[in-house]
Amino acid sequence: MKELKAVVNVLDKKSHINREIYGHFSEHLGRCIYEGIFVGKDSSIPNTDGVRNDVIEAFKNIHMPVLRWPGGCFADEYHWRDGVGAPQDRKKMVNTHWGGVTEDNSFGTHEFFNLCEELGCEPYLAGNLGSGSVQELADWIGYITFDGVSPMADLRRRNGREKPWKLKYLGIGNENWGCGGNMRPEFYGDEYRRYATYCRNFSGNELFKIACGPNADDYDWTDQLLGVVKDWHARAISLHYYTVPTGDWSHKGSATDFSEEEYYATIQKTLYMETLIAKHKAIMSRHTGNMKLVIDEWGCWYDVEPGTNPGFLFQQNTMRDAIVAACNLNLFNRNSDIVCMANLAQAVNVLQALLLTEGERLVKTPTYHVFDLFKEHQDSELIYSFVENVRVHEIPAVSHSASVDREGRLTMTLANCSLEEDYDLDIHILGMDGADYTARILTGEVHACNTFEDGERVHICDCKTEKTEDGIRLRLPRCSVVQVRGNAK
Ligand code: AHR
Repeated sequence: MKELKAVVNVLDKKSHINREIYGHFSEHLGRCIYEGIFVGKDSSIPNTDGVRNDVIEAFKNIHMPVLRWPGGCFADEYHWRDGVGAPQDRKKMVNTHWGGVTEDNSFGTHEFFNLCEELGCEPYLAGNLGSGSVQELADWIGYITFDGVSPMADLRRRNGREKPWKLKYLGIGNENWGCGGNMRPEFYGDEYRRYATYCRNFSGNELFKIACGPNADDYDWTDQLLGVVKDWHARAISLHYYTVPTGDWSHKGSATDFSEEEYYATIQKTLYMETLIAKHKAIMSRHTGNMKLVIDEWGCWYDVEPGTNPGFLFQQNTMRDAIVAACNLNLFNRNSDIVCMANLAQAVNVLQALLLTEGERLVKTPTYHVFDLFKEHQDSELIYSFVENVRVHEIPAVSHSASVDREGRLTMTLANCSLEEDYDLDIHILGMDGADYTARILTGEVHACNTFEDGERVHICDCKTEKTEDGIRLRLPRCSVVQVRGNAK
């Protein structure tokens, strides 16, 4: 058994980990909103105002801090007025991006904002810049946030909501270099400025406006965009990066049937996120003062499950996805000086989902459990952590980050990415004299997943620890994610 040393220094605080780094994304795509989240009030599936109770409970358990909606590519074709008013009177439309299915708009602004209120999470709207109008977006902001007398606020009241909602995060457009209008960065930059001008702060509500940033390594987009969009126009830009194991979008690979080689290629590709953040950050620092990065789409993208609608992006989720999630969340923590939000794609039944549903059945994926293990990092301070590392198949075997919360409690999260070796980890913890430690673990064979027949195959267990003079020792089995908690006495 290889022994590895680790050091954590509770006194060495680095940056604040915004709770929004643990954010999620729900698009009108496949079975994410309909069937996954929203089943309607008349469904036999237990629900609150049409939203599944099991989903609400699962989201609350991981302290979901922010939810992005309504897309994705869908956002730039969405016209919010179609989704308010009496459900039976709402206009139907064709969801041209995702399967050409009929969208009946039964889940709209009220349903989304009420869900966020129920969850205690921030709503994050993606506004339609691609095919909408400045007036339409300005009206939506007025409808949602204005407390006084205006045509939009009055319409909201007639539709049953007296008080405005709070809206902080507003993305203006989505992937406008692609599905959101195929624009050039300078053109989008000017359009962004025009739209942003009319998105007002009403009734004490303060918008945090986010401009559409680059696709993965399109550094030119970031550079050109920030020649036009300045700190006083936007608080952040977005970054989209998906992990595609083969790197080939026409044959991405199976979610469940993959070789060891494909596994290591997946982890290597996911860790590339750190390079992307560093390089875009360097460009941003040349143009801006304090602009942040919102990674509002990330996760694994595989070929759809055989026999399912290719436009619905439904895929299974294994321990490989758990390792991917842990690696990304650790690196978002470590880059929390610049990354202020991240949103996994997507919350239910789409891509690297937290939850899978089939009728009334619901399964929590390995990825869900990782968010459970990492939730204590939310709103904590990143602290110094170091793990004496070894490399396996070109990647560092152990991914890690650590934080301390307001009450002085330590959280350290680790992933052993190796499929070949277990490690004994000796963690020296500075600044936590006399603390008590506990640990929890998620582990399994790399292809292990939860199914509707066996929803508990991959689950969190307690992990044995041994107290040492200045910290703890624990075993990090191959293919595992571990959370260590420390409480100063
Ligand atoms: O998450 C699926 C799609 O991926 C989103 O709609 C789009 O923004 C991205 O290309």
